[in-house]
Amino acid sequence: MRILVINGPNLNLLGVREPDVYGDRSYAALCALIEGYAAEKGVEVKLFQSNHEGAIVDEIQAALGQFDGIVINPAAYTHTSIAILDALKAVDLPAMEVHISDVAAREPFRQVSYAGMACRRAFIGLGFDGYLRAIDALLEA
Ligand code: DQA
Repeated sequence: MRILVINGPNLNLLGVREPDVYGDRSYAALCALIEGYAAEKGVEVKLFQSNHEGAIVDEIQAALGQFDGIVINPAAYTHTSIAILDALKAVDLPAMEVHISDVAAREPFRQVSYAGMACRRAFIGLGFDGYLRAIDALLEA
């Protein structure tokens, strides 16, 4: 099983960025956690982070034929990007949505998830653990 893990804008600043919302662990710590878990489960994983919507669309398109599933936290693009939704629908790989914070309990503008419309399940408000649960869900899919 080959899984592509995509993180959107500002998630490279984990640990620095609003630690009361996103915690004090860094993006590097998140990558290490995911890589360790994937190794334990015998999963091949690629981690990709970008602050650019088009780069995320390119990465999703390039996943076709290369990966068996996608774990995606599109960050702010969750709530705005029809292009990311369309890319996920275009490649039609099993995809899982992750949000570190509990978006359901936050501002009204965070209540829409375009990307989520192309994802099988959402793991919301579980912190970094959400990514591991999303990998589990792809393994069970
Ligand atoms: C986020 C939630 C989004 O609303 C926000 O824009 C982010 C991170 C999360 O992981 O909780 O950047 O996706």
